[in-house]
Amino acid sequence: MPGPGHFDAHAAAYDRGRPPYPPALWERLRPLVRRGTRVVDLGAGTGLATGPLLAAGAAVTAVEPGPALADLLRARFPTATVLRATAETADLPEGGFDLAVAATAVHWFDLDAVLPRLHRALVAGGCFAVWRTAFGDPGVPLSPFRRRVAEITAARSAPPRPGPGELDTGQWAARLTCGGWFTVRAVEEFAWSVELGTEQVRDLFTTFSDWSAHEVALAADAVRDLGGSVTEHYRTPLVLLDR
Ligand SMILES: C[S@@+](CC[C@H](N)C(=O)[O-])C[C@H]1O[C@@H](n2cnc3c(N)ncnc32)[C@H](O)[C@@H]1O
Repeated sequence: MPGPGHFDAHAAAYDRGRPPYPPALWERLRPLVRRGTRVVDLGAGTGLATGPLLAAGAAVTAVEPGPALADLLRARFPTATVLRATAETADLPEGGFDLAVAATAVHWFDLDAVLPRLHRALVAGGCFAVWRTAFGDPGVPLSPFRRRVAEITAARSAPPRPGPGELDTGQWAARLTCGGWFTVRAVEEFAWSVELGTEQVRDLFTTFSDWSAHEVALAADAVRDLGGSVTEHYRTPLVLLDR
């Protein structure tokens, strides 16, 4: 199964295909992000969190190990500080941040290494906002496209990625509070939907590290068969932690 380098290898597809996070999520984070708030964005990717944080007036340090993605971040967000590093190794100043965020990235981290480092990098009273996205909302009846997606993934022989899934927030909260560095302030979920065409499905599904090129082609075929556009329902759980 591909590792975390998958995203850098598909940086252009990621940039084209990944939809932005829903406005309701940013509304929820708004009280934490004021002009000048110092934020570290761990696993920043193409900047789907970095961009809105900068737009809200935050001073953002984007931590991203992928060289292509780090270059893209530097070019797109010249006012951000971009560190080409992992969350486990980034040189973060002690007490240098008011807020840390990990947007659809925390499942790639070695939390035993990251949590104490982040505790040190955040000020007293600082906050860590962690969110992921479930691409496919289990609470919404299966659409014809989701039925085709289920058929594609049912044909896999490899076991699914180990560890808690996107919506296992209880398990994530337990992992994120392990070691006593953080406590849970709130757990919330945001349901949202997006209209995707054939090419965006091709790009988006290419970014999923557990999807093969053949499976991506089948998903794009499905969209084409269904008229060239599908409505997708996604869910983004947020775990807010206090330092
Ligand atoms: C699914 S992408 C999310 C990117 C972006 N935060 C977003 O919301 O679109 C996961 C990102 O985590 C990065 N990543 C993987 N392992 C990492 C690690 N150990 N430390 C920091 N970032 C990591 C990948 O390079 C990738 O950019």
